[in-house]
Amino acid sequence: MIRTIEWTDAGVVMLDQRLLPTQEIYRTYTNHSEVAEAIRSMVVRGAPAIGVAAAMGIAMGVDTSNPGSLAELDVLFERICSDIASTRPTAVNLFWAVERMKAVYSGTRPLGIPAVRSALIHESIVMHAEDIEANRAMGRFGQALIPNKARVLTHCNAGALATAGYGTALGVIRAAVEAGNQIEVYADETRPFLQGARLTAWELQQDGIPVTIITDNMAGHFMQKGKIDCVIVGADRIAANGDVANKIGTYSVAVLAKENGVPFFVAAPISTLDLSIPDGSHIPIEERDPDEVRKIMGVPITPMDAKVANPAFDVTPNRYVHAIITERGIARPPFQESLQTLARGAA
Ligand code: MRU
Repeated sequence: MIRTIEWTDAGVVMLDQRLLPTQEIYRTYTNHSEVAEAIRSMVVRGAPAIGVAAAMGIAMGVDTSNPGSLAELDVLFERICSDIASTRPTAVNLFWAVERMKAVYSGTRPLGIPAVRSALIHESIVMHAEDIEANRAMGRFGQALIPNKARVLTHCNAGALATAGYGTALGVIRAAVEAGNQIEVYADETRPFLQGARLTAWELQQDGIPVTIITDNMAGHFMQKGKIDCVIVGADRIAANGDVANKIGTYSVAVLAKENGVPFFVAAPISTLDLSIPDGSHIPIEERDPDEVRKIMGVPITPMDAKVANPAFDVTPNRYVHAIITERGIARPPFQESLQTLARGAA
């Protein structure tokens, strides 16, 4: 099993996803600023993995601190949380994780500093385990939606690398394969960070699941030729009405899917729902370094002074989404109601 992120005695260990698939390097982070930088620079990425990294970063920050009093720890804890929260704006799992750690902090504060420390570490490890469980549950619900011998298109990486393990969209694919479905995956390369070409292709190959890499501009062609039976992607934030923020390019794939009569599915844990916002227009879209577009793996491919735009995510309106697969069941349109029901806990 791929080890994306782990709490160890030596620190938070993460597989450096910037280097895959050519190098498999694990790095150990020993303070919260390093973990924050690892999230910002995408050593670790993918909404659920970012959430777990945030929790572990906060736990690490408190564990390595030496406050003289609880009042001092209060100030420090706020700073650690805001450092972690400022890393990436779009994936709501980050803020969900910070809030969850804040609740643990308040709950254990009366018991003193050592109790706070161990409760925060424990919570981050629990969140890691829960995420894998959630992905397996999404797989159990979602695999029924995938036709037998389907050719499935995915965009970005919503796999083990984007989560604590198993994956959301790729988790559904894995579960279908485990159930005997001979799926073939088409992976969009996902410019500019190449999560599809580098990460999705790598992790599917590890599992022996057939994968064909296509450039982002080929998806429409393959749909038009009848070579794609369904699309499944992950999400970074889902608004109350079912609008879905995911990796830049997802919206184009969704529109092409509708035009070609191909079902478009989203797999995401409940922690990716943001029911506080009515629709996708309220989702902050991260703008990343223009050099990510100007270069591929550090090699310049454009005039280096060319003006570049680099939004990391886009929003797919709910009308393009056939179903949202969560660990509590499958939400279908109208999402306003179905997502509320799942968020309340009904399976
Ligand atoms: O910029 P990234 O690589 O963090 O973006 C990741 C995605 O957009 C994923 O599709 C999303 O987080 C879902 S991961 C299970």
